[in-house]
Amino acid sequence: LLDWYRQMRATQPVYFESRYGCWLVFSYADAFHVLNDPVTFSSEPSEREDGRQPGILGMDDPRHRQLRAIIHQAFTPRIIEQLGPRIIAVTNALLDGLQERGEMEVIQEFAYPLPLTIIAELLGVPAEEQAMFRTWSTALTRGFQPSARAARPQAYEENERALRSYFAQKLEERRRAPQDDLMSHLLMASVDGQKLSEEELLDFCKLLLLAGHETTAHLLGNAVVCFDAYPEIAKQVRADPALIMSAIEEILRCFPSVSGALRRATRETILNGQRIEPGQSIMVQAVSANYDETQFPDPEIFDIQRQPNRHLTFGHGIHFCLGAPLARLEARIALPLLLERFPTLKHQPEHSIETIVSPFLVGVKAFHVTL
Ligand code: HEM
Repeated sequence: LLDWYRQMRATQPVYFESRYGCWLVFSYADAFHVLNDPVTFSSEPSEREDGRQPGILGMDDPRHRQLRAIIHQAFTPRIIEQLGPRIIAVTNALLDGLQERGEMEVIQEFAYPLPLTIIAELLGVPAEEQAMFRTWSTALTRGFQPSARAARPQAYEENERALRSYFAQKLEERRRAPQDDLMSHLLMASVDGQKLSEEELLDFCKLLLLAGHETTAHLLGNAVVCFDAYPEIAKQVRADPALIMSAIEEILRCFPSVSGALRRATRETILNGQRIEPGQSIMVQAVSANYDETQFPDPEIFDIQRQPNRHLTFGHGIHFCLGAPLARLEARIALPLLLERFPTLKHQPEHSIETIVSPFLVGVKAFHVTL
């Protein structure tokens, strides 16, 4: 894929993919330009499209800005930093007991449960109910893929309904008895004296749940795959744990767990010589932008000390990822703990590595290791 991206950046950096009816944007400068101009490149779907991105992700300003501010208050770096001890405890609980077993499947047993537990606790969901989330969210994330959705529309609708009625019930409980959690925070929030609508509340819960764990799960999974592929790097990080910060940024750059962003042109515009018509869709190719040689010297070299490293994996501009500090903190805590506790962690070669096929996610389905 990297060869294709390189070729596209050099020859057709803004390219109309007729199979998807969508413009693909490959270079860093063009990707940056699109994300930086939300007036021309809207996040709202056209009237013809049915699949809206959830919540504020699929909204433009001013409503986007007003609703984003509400979550922003709950996600300040200071509040996130306070989650440190809980992230350590959850990680240790996941890793305890594995030593005797001597092996694990990293995605199911480590990469998913950690961010899922943390976001579920933030939202205010009891631990014993979290397992249901996994089923819904896998089905819904696949549903963002038009082909998967078309193949099993019922599964998508059913999961969407189940998730919404679950959150509707939880919100109702909190209306009666507010608690110290994100759901109660959303219920109490208002914009110009107006509370959020039930639709907006449910959209928020869905977005936070999905965005809050699928993405980080693949960051953690991709990191373990990298440490296995580059044992000398794992060794360096074990020797100097401070290196984990820049290592995470390089993992995010090279294997962006979120690999693209979707926009729609609101007016006719020229992008790198190509005329884009109003209403046409644009997919920013974050993977390609992150390997753009004009922005990153020797982009195909995996360099955990790369500085600067302005990758586009968390997006850019008004929709820049609200959960970036949380995702970084989870990775910064959990990965060194894993490396420290299992210094001989190694992929089991009899299990092949199967990657996820999705236009929005970069990750592996399963990663079996011996400890
Ligand atoms: C937005 C990536 C983790 C919540 C975004 C966007 C990207 C992204 C690329 C912008 C999409 C666009 O411009 O269309 C990631 C990655 C993550 C991650 C790679 C992990 C490695 C999280 C977490 C949370 C979260 C942990 C919440 C707890 C959100 C929200 C938005 C968002 C609420 C919407 C912001 C807006 O529209 O203003 N994320 N994300 N993300 N992310 Fe994340």
